Amino acid sequence: MPGAGMRPPELVGRDADIESIGRIIARTKLKLMNQGVIFSGLRGMGKTVLLLSLQDLAARQGMVTARMEATGNAETDYDELFNEIALAAVNVRSMALREKLSEVMSRIDSVEFSFLGIGANVRLSDEERIRTNPFRLEAIVRRLSEELAKENSGLFLFIDELQEMASKPLGALVALQHKMGQDGLPFYIIGAGLPNLPGTLTKSRSYAERLFSYKRIGQLSDEDTADGFQKPAQRMGRPFDDEAISRLVEISHGYPYFIQAYGRAAWDASVSNPTGLQAVLEGEPIARAELDEGLYTSRWQRAKESGRRYLAAMARISEDDPCDSARVAEAMGKKPKEVSMVRESLIQLGLIYQPEHGKVAYTIPGMGEYILRAVPATQQTYDGRW
Ligand SMILES: Nc1ncnc2c1ncn2[C@@H]1O[C@H](COP(=O)(O)OP(=O)(O)O)[C@@H](O)[C@H]1O
Ligand SMILES: [Mg+2]
Repeated sequence: MPGAGMRPPELVGRDADIESIGRIIARTKLKLMNQGVIFSGLRGMGKTVLLLSLQDLAARQGMVTARMEATGNAETDYDELFNEIALAAVNVRSMALREKLSEVMSRIDSVEFSFLGIGANVRLSDEERIRTNPFRLEAIVRRLSEELAKENSGLFLFIDELQEMASKPLGALVALQHKMGQDGLPFYIIGAGLPNLPGTLTKSRSYAERLFSYKRIGQLSDEDTADGFQKPAQRMGRPFDDEAISRLVEISHGYPYFIQAYGRAAWDASVSNPTGLQAVLEGEPIARAELDEGLYTSRWQRAKESGRRYLAAMARISEDDPCDSARVAEAMGKKPKEVSMVRESLIQLGLIYQPEHGKVAYTIPGMGEYILRAVPATQQTYDGRW
């Protein structure tokens, strides 16, 4: 997905989310406890860039921050967790604190080896046990948080695509957030993921519901959308005129990914100052082709033939609105049970999710419209040949 996670020239409409993290940071400095935060939303809504901004904010305010993207492979996820947390500790600005934290980290591994009853001769299989050991993770987070609490700081762990995380590390993390809260230690998970993320967390540990505050990252208001186009353009000395802005707002539906694509295309087509409607209209097909390529075609190609038939049936039933999974099966001439594997694989691929029981919806806004408009062949091979 080109443009994914790329910082926008202007991050609009997320002030409330930024403020809420600001409050958590301020409270942490006062040694007050907080909940972790979970952001969920469709692809291209701006979760990744929001997470990046929040991490910047926390780091600027003296918090120790680590960031990773979950993969779904338990070993990789654990490795990332350990590596990123260790990296965060050694990157602390204050030298005294940095030395303290490094000492904590090195002590944990030597203690942990004996704790596991492994002793000095570590075999490969033992190494694996240590790498993916939830107690080691807890020991590290606990000791770091204890040290940071003394400095009125805290450990903030930012995890993107959290719905992807393998169930073991995910369960360990949720349990850890719970324990650190009980012990009054400043460790906070700030996670982002698809709309199924809150459900995934609750399935992992039922008390996850109470541990986090859940925020939806959705479409932007018309006003924020207009700002998303106008502010960067004004800064560059070439604003859009009113007609151009109202067209841009209309076609982008408050969807951040669209704002960047249509804004860039209109900007490139502009031959006047201010930029008028003509440039927007000229840019539209270019932006749409870019969106098809960047957002939709690649996702479509990820699905197998049966998955594509399922996606196409969804589009025919309700375009981009959530639809009954029973109706999809019916449209495919099958019993619901017969298509449940296909549905599961599409969920695994992150192409659809279940907004509520018995319903399915695309994770990418506009996917249904794309399927109906472009009618991609269900048999289309990866290199575009039939
Ligand atoms: N609040 C925002 N204002 C303007 N543009 C944004 C905003 N949030 C995201 N974008 C742009 O939208 C695109 C998708 O953002 P991204 O963070 O990758 O979405 P997600 O992680 O939800 O899939 C990127 O090009 C990004 O620059
Ligand atoms: Mg993202």
